[in-house]
Amino acid sequence: MLQGYDERKDWAMRNLAFRRRRPISKLLLVQLCALVIFFCAACPGVLAAPKIRVERVTHNFGQVEEGIEVSTNFIIHNDGDRPLQIYETKSTCGCTLASLKKRVVSAGATEALKVVMDTSMKQGLVTKEITVKSNDPKRPVLRLFVSADVRDPHAKLGGNVQAKIFQGRCAECHSVRGNGKFGEELFVADCAMCHGLMGDGAVGPNLVRLDYEAKGMAEEVRKIIANGSPNHRSMPGFSKRLGGPLSDLQIASIVKHLKDLSLLDKRTVR
Ligand code: HEC
Ligand code: HEC
Repeated sequence: MLQGYDERKDWAMRNLAFRRRRPISKLLLVQLCALVIFFCAACPGVLAAPKIRVERVTHNFGQVEEGIEVSTNFIIHNDGDRPLQIYETKSTCGCTLASLKKRVVSAGATEALKVVMDTSMKQGLVTKEITVKSNDPKRPVLRLFVSADVRDPHAKLGGNVQAKIFQGRCAECHSVRGNGKFGEELFVADCAMCHGLMGDGAVGPNLVRLDYEAKGMAEEVRKIIANGSPNHRSMPGFSKRLGGPLSDLQIASIVKHLKDLSLLDKRTVR
């Protein structure tokens, strides 16, 4: 079977084949090396990054009184190997403030994000969201939630004991922008944040489903806007007579706008 088999010849042949292939593999080797060098040079830039982590994304304050401030700390970790830059910590309602001592968290370090919630005028279950924007490439926006079950010792009293929303810092968002305005503009400035731009509801109920043609309805709505809701503290009385920001004419202009919105809603939806 192995007749004529010449080991030396076989070796020479293989050696020849190897030599012939060699120039190609050399080129390949050079290419491979170049690739490895390129990646290794790029690696640190690609892989090194800040990495944000929080120990929990929600905090429940449990049952709390109305009209107080409650606070908690969310511990932010930087698990990455580049400094973590925190650009923004924001909540929609100014009643919840989030603050940091440092906006840059070095690699491996932690920083406490303090969240303070003002329970003034709130009632029942309330949840607020805080968005944290950072330079973590994988998680540029992180959402945290605080919630509380607000008990209101004055709930049964009704009236405008809640004028706080029209004072100081609260007023900047809740009434100052409506000053001197009427109708739609006034609704957008003072009401939309709680009832939605089209009046179709947000934290407050839908106002366009009401039948403003029904007897006494427009008057009922006017009264609630002027005096506030006897059932829910989040709906303040807007009348100047109660320390609110709106004149009777302004309130009437809003009722008219709501009526228009509800007609529009009936025409388009139904
Ligand atoms: C930066 C603007 C801003 C400031 C300042 C602000 N609010 Fe608000 N508030 C909002 C917006 C927007 C909403 C609706 C969205 C939401 O509830 O997060 C809202 C909603 C509310 C509500 C509705 C009920 C609920 O679920 O929270 C109450 C009550 C309230 N604010 C009270 C206050 C009080 C009291 C202050 C002052 C301590 C205040 N707000 C300051 C913007 C603001
Ligand atoms: C801070 C949040 C907030 C703001 C600002 C606010 N509302 Fe309200 N509103 C509520 C809540 C909450 C209720 C529900 C009250 C209840 O359950 O009795 C409500 C109820 C009402 C109601 C009664 C609706 C019903 O079905 O019983 C009317 C009408 C109303 N709001 C109109 C307005 C108008 C107009 C404005 C602007 C001038 C306004 N609200 C601003 C939170 C708000």
